[in-house]
Amino acid sequence: MPIPEEVINEIKYRNDIETTISSYVSLKRRGKTLVGLCPFHGEKTPSFTVYPENGSFYCFGCGVGGDVFTFTKLIENLDYIEAVKLLADRSGITIPENGYDDSMSKLKNNIYEINRETAKFFHDYLMSPDGKWALDYLTQRGLSVKTIKHFGLGAAPDSWTALLDHLKSKGYSISDMLAANVIGKSQRGTYYDRFRKRVMFPVINVRGKVIAFSGRAMPGDDKAGAKYVNTADTPVYKKSENLFGMNFAKSFCDEQIILVEGNMDVISLHQAGFRNTVAALGTSFTNEQANLISRYTKEIILMLDADAAGQKAVKRASEILKNTGLEVRVVVVPEGKDPDEYIKKNGKERFEALLSGAVSEIEYKLLTAVKDIDTNSDDGKVQYLSRAAEIIAENGDIITRDLYIGRISEKYGISRTAFSAKVDEIRKKNYRASRKKEISNIIHPKLSGKELNPEKRKYPTAAIAEETVISVLLLHPDFFDSVYEKLKPEDMITAFNSRIYSIVCEPLSEGKTPDISYFGERLSTEEFSFLTSLYNSEKGRKNSLTVLNDSIKVILDEKIRIKMLDAENLSDDNWAECMQNLIENKKKGKV
Ligand code: CTP
Ligand code: MN
Repeated sequence: MPIPEEVINEIKYRNDIETTISSYVSLKRRGKTLVGLCPFHGEKTPSFTVYPENGSFYCFGCGVGGDVFTFTKLIENLDYIEAVKLLADRSGITIPENGYDDSMSKLKNNIYEINRETAKFFHDYLMSPDGKWALDYLTQRGLSVKTIKHFGLGAAPDSWTALLDHLKSKGYSISDMLAANVIGKSQRGTYYDRFRKRVMFPVINVRGKVIAFSGRAMPGDDKAGAKYVNTADTPVYKKSENLFGMNFAKSFCDEQIILVEGNMDVISLHQAGFRNTVAALGTSFTNEQANLISRYTKEIILMLDADAAGQKAVKRASEILKNTGLEVRVVVVPEGKDPDEYIKKNGKERFEALLSGAVSEIEYKLLTAVKDIDTNSDDGKVQYLSRAAEIIAENGDIITRDLYIGRISEKYGISRTAFSAKVDEIRKKNYRASRKKEISNIIHPKLSGKELNPEKRKYPTAAIAEETVISVLLLHPDFFDSVYEKLKPEDMITAFNSRIYSIVCEPLSEGKTPDISYFGERLSTEEFSFLTSLYNSEKGRKNSLTVLNDSIKVILDEKIRIKMLDAENLSDDNWAECMQNLIENKKKGKV
């Protein structure tokens, strides 16, 4: 049972979009709309637009859009029902029981409970006499009991069913335990604890909920398998969207955040007072993690290994961080150590010094680019200078570029004018390439890398006309009858628009004139984003009836044109049918 429409409307009315979004994004008024920096993809110039008059938002940069529920869902990482509930709570509205299908939110709740109970079980075991082996290990690695408690660390006993039995005794079902990924099912059909004889690190999200675990094997345990075992993705956990330590770091990172590789690094640094440290868990750094960080801080310090893998990681992370608006600096930890080992060996002050020696991203790149080149030879020099020019050209700040153009040209004894011209040339080339990409993204909106309407490339004229029809119809539901008479969903050429059109027609055909939020529940986030962009498009605002009829004509014409194109492959019968259609359409005055 969906939540009744009146309730949705009431919640929406009490949580107006401007106020709700303003508490996360700083917005500036621009005419009838408000604009700000998109919290979902990170950018330096605002393309995130809020339309208070119709309760929607749309980002022209990344194509995400929707209503106040969509926004809450995405920014708080919730599903639709949870977002509705959160907004209802905020405004003191109670949602009627059985008013919605809450099986997913029930499952999620059970997983959160199981995770909390599991964390407690592991922690209690660690602190019990039986867990001495694990406590010894952690203290020997330099962690104080206070730190261990602060992070809620624990240990999994050397047993196949200890946790399973415990959770059973607390009344949790096997299927929920499986969903939480704390137990596994063997080929023989028996169930077993996934974490055994390991020290356990709970992963806690920014709202303080235990969402996953990371378990480290004991050194010298040959039978343990992987050194780290992590929770797989579950309904409450996507490892690509979370960071270990973010629950603490978020309160200490107004200025900067430190990104390290491992969870032991995070814990050691927190213990030493560097509480603005986080780690990606067993993955390379992702866009989602970059966006999460950019919501809390201004600068990120990448602290990665000095080895080739570390260099690759810096390159990848800085690529991802490019569009987030975050300042990026890099620290290379010397002596091939990780931050945990370094701070233990050299102490807090040396670490502080290391941190203050963090170089800008451009400096780091210029330094590493020289590594395998012999700049004493002419060939090497030329090779390095063109690499350096590429690196400098990537920087968006003219003063920074000027500074490095001066330094590098002087250092390698070439004319500043020539080097500067080279950088400019690369910038122009890069600019053209990025404009091309930008334009293509506007014409073919993509979300999460996947093209929404792939057929739009093949049939651009038709697809644009289809979008116009949907757009006008959303603004003028009263045109529905006359539009539907001429154009059925199956008349639309691109399958994607045809589907959207039929969903839009559904309530209209019942005489309803739904609010845009009606569709939020019925479409995926991507589809709803797209619909919001059509809802706010300028296309149908003026002379809408003319625009509408023109677009319908374009679609029907295109349909015939496409059929004709295929005509060589048509049988005589089909050909006759096609011509017959054309004639009938003409008679009806459609074409
Ligand atoms: N990791 C993982 N799975 C593995 C190995 C590593 O998930 N099989 C993740 C863990 O989060 C770990 C991080 O990658 O913290 C860094 O791994 P590694 O460099 O191997 O960590 P170490 O510093 O060697 O681990 P420790 O300090 O515990 O010895
Ligand atoms: Mn380590």
